[in-house]
Amino acid sequence: MSSLDQALRAALDARRPLLAELHQQQTDCYRLFHGSQEGQPGLTVDRYGSQLLVQSFHQPLTREALLDLHALCCAQLASPLQLVYNDRSAGNSRIDRRDSVYSASAEALADQQGQEWGIHYRVRGRHAGQDPLLFLDLRQARAWVKANSAGQRVLNLFAYTCGVGLCAAAGGAREVVNLDFAEGNLQVGRENAQLNPHLPAMQFVQSDYFPAIRQWAGLPLARRRGQALPAYPRLEQRKFDMVFLDPPAWARSAFGTVDLLRDYQSLLKPAILTTARDGILVCNNNLAKVAFSDWLEQVLRCASKLGRPVRDWQQLLPAADFPSHDAQPPLKTLILRF
Ligand SMILES: C[S@@+](CC[C@H](N)C(=O)[O-])C[C@H]1O[C@@H](n2cnc3c(N)ncnc32)[C@H](O)[C@@H]1O
Repeated sequence: MSSLDQALRAALDARRPLLAELHQQQTDCYRLFHGSQEGQPGLTVDRYGSQLLVQSFHQPLTREALLDLHALCCAQLASPLQLVYNDRSAGNSRIDRRDSVYSASAEALADQQGQEWGIHYRVRGRHAGQDPLLFLDLRQARAWVKANSAGQRVLNLFAYTCGVGLCAAAGGAREVVNLDFAEGNLQVGRENAQLNPHLPAMQFVQSDYFPAIRQWAGLPLARRRGQALPAYPRLEQRKFDMVFLDPPAWARSAFGTVDLLRDYQSLLKPAILTTARDGILVCNNNLAKVAFSDWLEQVLRCASKLGRPVRDWQQLLPAADFPSHDAQPPLKTLILRF
């Protein structure tokens, strides 16, 4: 038995109780193998509905290893999962189209659906972006939003495909606003909304984060080195009862730089000011090299300096399909009550 085979069997065994629970809760999207913590750094195996998504980040898998892995996952889950293999080890290489095992069947690449807490999500094995359309490590945070959003005005920042917004709508939010600058991502969010026609309608704001949040917060827009700013949608100053802030690790635009390592404050400050006086801000930091304790200190200090001290905070951890031996998972989620 190869070391990958052994590691995969151990991972699948360890997940039995979690998967039984998730299946009962109408959830069929989860991580089956988290290589960095389970013996094969640079390899992940995820289930998205009837699709098995295998991704390699350091080196490609051999044909045999891929076939064995697929067969083992199908047998253990008693389901004929359709394989999509995205090799991301050599800048955008993704796949070798010559071999049917690597290139995936037409069925596997067709638009599909997965479920999480009974909410339907678009599953697409390959699309214009690199990442899957639903980030699985954020599942616990989505669950929290669903359980706590009744009657709330919810703002979902860096919304991507609007999973958090859908959970707020499913949880009975009074209003849900999703913000992202990428129309393609919001378009998948709209598709996700259509897959759940029983949910109340959400709003979609296509804008760069900085002008949008600064207008909502009532802050002036900073010009960069005296240059005129590109056009941006005009928004009224206002507040939300629940704000969800989940930025990428790093991104630059004409309006500013998202940099979770060096400058979390410039993201956090306007988000705090947009949160209602007795509201809730759920903030995230997915950078592995930022320690939870340092980040927590920064966040609490920033809130105090703004005259909006945090009354109570709570940490949320990803579920057991994202094991973390040092209890320091890369994705850190904080729920702040003001
Ligand atoms: C890591 S994803 C966020 C994941 C998301 N919160 C979720 O629930 O799945 C990052 C998102 O931020 C968006 N983004 C990056 N920089 C941005 C900016 N300056 N303004 C608005 N959106 C931005 C990207 O388009 C992408 O959809």
